[in-house]
Amino acid sequence: MQFELNKPLKDFNTFHIEAHAEKLICIEDEASLLETVAFAKKEKINTHFIGGGSNILLTKNVQGIVVINQLKGIKIIQENEEFVMVNFSSGENWHECVLWAVEHNYGGIENLSLIPGTIGASPIQNIGAYGVELKDVFHSLEAIHLTSFEKKIFTLEECQFGYRDSIFKQQEKGNWFILNVTLQLTKNPVCNINYGNIKDELLKMNIEYPSIQDVSKAVIQIRSSKLPNPAEIGNAGSFFKNPIVSHSHFEELKSLYPEIPFFTVSNGVKIPAAWLIEKNNWKGFKEGDYGVHKNQALVLVNYNNAKGNDILNLSTQIITSVQQAFNITLEREVNIW
Ligand code: EPU
Repeated sequence: MQFELNKPLKDFNTFHIEAHAEKLICIEDEASLLETVAFAKKEKINTHFIGGGSNILLTKNVQGIVVINQLKGIKIIQENEEFVMVNFSSGENWHECVLWAVEHNYGGIENLSLIPGTIGASPIQNIGAYGVELKDVFHSLEAIHLTSFEKKIFTLEECQFGYRDSIFKQQEKGNWFILNVTLQLTKNPVCNINYGNIKDELLKMNIEYPSIQDVSKAVIQIRSSKLPNPAEIGNAGSFFKNPIVSHSHFEELKSLYPEIPFFTVSNGVKIPAAWLIEKNNWKGFKEGDYGVHKNQALVLVNYNNAKGNDILNLSTQIITSVQQAFNITLEREVNIW
């Protein structure tokens, strides 16, 4: 077990924030993972796990051990004429797995193209985009308990998926390391193109009867035009969740702002946080090296050498202003370290 000491984390987080890990180790197999967590337990050292580093904001150096998950592998474990069950190791890059599925004409995750991060992170916040969420194709996952080292299969029900939420963000937070995720994909894909501007994008591409390859291309096109590429501008995708308000609160807002966009959901009305933030004039805001992206107000950005705390403070100012203007409390989607 070889740790790198005082290791810069700039390349391990998509915000590209400069912070150091006291000890860092990349693990490529289960045995090294077990050895590392057993060592940390014995020595009473904190461990922190990073997959793609695309949903964290580093506000200080990280004490203890940072484990970089590089468990790799894609295996078909069962198939019939209609479905294929594919097991993906948790250190695989999510988008590369989507491209693999699309190439094989296995449908179900094409709308989730170009989401940054790893397979292992995908169930934690039940990633979602363009009308599809991970839970729609999720079969099960295998995880290892970080103190008892017990291995367990979590079924769809046991994961308790919600909007950007799962049991791994609630009562089981920090307790498990996800080893692999099994998705049930279809061999007879039906494209889901009802969300937002997917149809328009396909029309622009002159496609009337899209394949999943076309849908994937359209989503890649939409995301690339709206969302900054983390390789060029540091960011972690949506910084906030879209809030859900009561019907009566929504009616009040609608009478003041008839143009307010919304989606009715089972427990109320969901309002795009980006609209609330833009309405408060934050879109395109820039100070020093940090700001709010010019094409998508939900995305906070590091233009060069911003500090994690600059971005955290900016997010607090945004939360306060949205609270004052609309009486809505935005919740951060990104994890603050
Ligand atoms: N809007 C604005 N200003 C903006 C951007 C959007 O007013 O700057 C309004 C528009 O009315 C637009 C509506 O917000 O119609 C919805 O915008 P968009 O389709 O871009 O989606 P979103 O609600 O802002 C969510 C996800 C994204 C996901 C898209 C597409 C959350 C927190 N974010 O954003 O996820 O890609 O839908 O499905 O739910 C991510 O999690 O990192 C992420 C990018």
